[in-house]
Amino acid sequence: MTPVITVDGPSGAGKGTLCRLLAEKTGFHLLDSGAIYRLCALASLESGCDLEDQSAVGELARKLDIAFKLVNGATQILLAGEEVSTAIREERIGLLASKVAAYAPVRAALLERQRDFCRAPGLVADGRDMGTVVFPGAALKVFLTASAEERAKRRARQLELAGKAADYAKILQDIQQRDESDRNRENSPLVAASDALELDSTLLPIDKVFDRVYQKAVAQLGAHLGRVK
Ligand code: DC
Repeated sequence: MTPVITVDGPSGAGKGTLCRLLAEKTGFHLLDSGAIYRLCALASLESGCDLEDQSAVGELARKLDIAFKLVNGATQILLAGEEVSTAIREERIGLLASKVAAYAPVRAALLERQRDFCRAPGLVADGRDMGTVVFPGAALKVFLTASAEERAKRRARQLELAGKAADYAKILQDIQQRDESDRNRENSPLVAASDALELDSTLLPIDKVFDRVYQKAVAQLGAHLGRVK
């Protein structure tokens, strides 16, 4: 069976960096499931679809024309052939992704698409319900958290480094709103799998988080990792 490592947790906890490091080290494929929900949000917005109509957004999710292309080591994200890697990272798209991600028809439409990413030699899957719903049989499950204040600080720093305006209070408010909707929704809420390794990156630097997770991966997936090296 193809081995899967799942990393779930709230936005800004460091999942993206951890998953990238794990994928680089193991040679496994990478699934950024949040990007798929963001693509669905952007497509809904651009199509003028009624964002309150769960079936209509679900239908759109079913037909979503998306692609992830590796160009010079960086992943380009395409929606109907158009590069939208930057556009989907906007805060308003994150909030809209969180809204449409609560719709059962949307989650059903995107479930198999996410499972299709699971190919040899293995997969590192980043999201909210990777270990609980999409890959419940994963070989290693991680649940990564950090305080909302620390996550807002990181996001503000990221924006400042990119030369953009950063309003800490607004960022914190958006993060708390997104946490609230992701944790309390009925379908696939953000929750740690009972067998997940839970880590808090508030005070633990991401390289230390990576060391802890990779150690555990070696212990649990040793034979598979040996094969891809
Ligand atoms: O990881 P992210 O910030 O790019 O995700 C954007 C939104 O998509 C997030 O607020 C909730 C939703 N999401 C989800 O519901 N399930 C996933 N597996 C991944 C993301």
